[in-house]
Amino acid sequence: ARLPELLRRMPKAELHIHIEGSLEPELIFELAQRNGVKLAYPGVEALRRAYAFTNLQSFLDIYYAGASVLLKEQDFYDMAWAYFERAAADHVVHAELFFDPQTHTARGVAMRTVIDGLHRACEDARARLGVDGSLILCFLRHLSEAEAFATLEEAMPFRDKFIGVGLDSSEVGHPPEKFAGVFERCRELGLHLVAHAGEEGPPAYVWTALDTLHVERIDHGVQSVKDPALMKRLAKDRIPLTVCPLSNLKLCVFPKLEDHNLKQLLDAGIVATVNSDDPAYFGGYMNDNFLQTFAATGMDARHAYQLAANSFEASFVDEAMKKKWR
Ligand code: HPA
Ligand code: ZN
Repeated sequence: ARLPELLRRMPKAELHIHIEGSLEPELIFELAQRNGVKLAYPGVEALRRAYAFTNLQSFLDIYYAGASVLLKEQDFYDMAWAYFERAAADHVVHAELFFDPQTHTARGVAMRTVIDGLHRACEDARARLGVDGSLILCFLRHLSEAEAFATLEEAMPFRDKFIGVGLDSSEVGHPPEKFAGVFERCRELGLHLVAHAGEEGPPAYVWTALDTLHVERIDHGVQSVKDPALMKRLAKDRIPLTVCPLSNLKLCVFPKLEDHNLKQLLDAGIVATVNSDDPAYFGGYMNDNFLQTFAATGMDARHAYQLAANSFEASFVDEAMKKKWR
């Protein structure tokens, strides 16, 4: 079979998607109108033209502005449902969705509104699209640990509707260890733990995500190649990296897709996966990431098979389900 067709058609899991980053400009304007929210851009085209990023922060500023149109339970449902339709078209059979409750509760949106809307979309995706979805609550690392604790407390009435916690937003200057206490509490609660580390930040942040927060996966982690001892640790302990090639390209983590180190990570025996991160902002969903990255880096069918297998191994589904997928 031709490689592009294999990449498109193979069943895969997506483990690094910020659901607020799946909000397409068209839906942003539709929701703005529905909710009477004023935007700083006159229309879809002007907004899309603003998607020229130089680093993570330049993206985050516009990403939080886009999320300001989300007010009602139905808004969160519509956003997640649109993502699940795209996922199904890309043969994603399992997705673990990050969400940023603090972006919404800070604007007066209730935690229940956020979680109920997203969870209802997960239930409908399973029933109507055959896509298995679950939710991971992310703490914003530019805010304080006390605010993370308060957010966890607010979310506890809905504990059965999310499977884990993560750490996202501005990385440099906000190392994982800033959140040691709240992650310890989440661990006691039996939540799965992940954290963004080594996207723009140094290998030291990946080390402390592992050894201080005790995360099970690292989101991004591409800066790990700068530290040979860390590369050995990730491979030996089979710590997955949820890599997002088009995100790294658009946020100038790598100057060209040809320079991306995904192949190097795989060839070092690391459980790397391919993911879309914020597909509405970075120019591509799962299959766009697979196709463009393979075309640019000369990976082959064995890499494709490895990435699909890695995505299921790295997922938080139970072992019985993983056996079925193998
Ligand atoms: N990095 C950090 N925070 C984020 C990202 C990202 O790529 N996307 C959405 N929030
Ligand atoms: Zn991310």
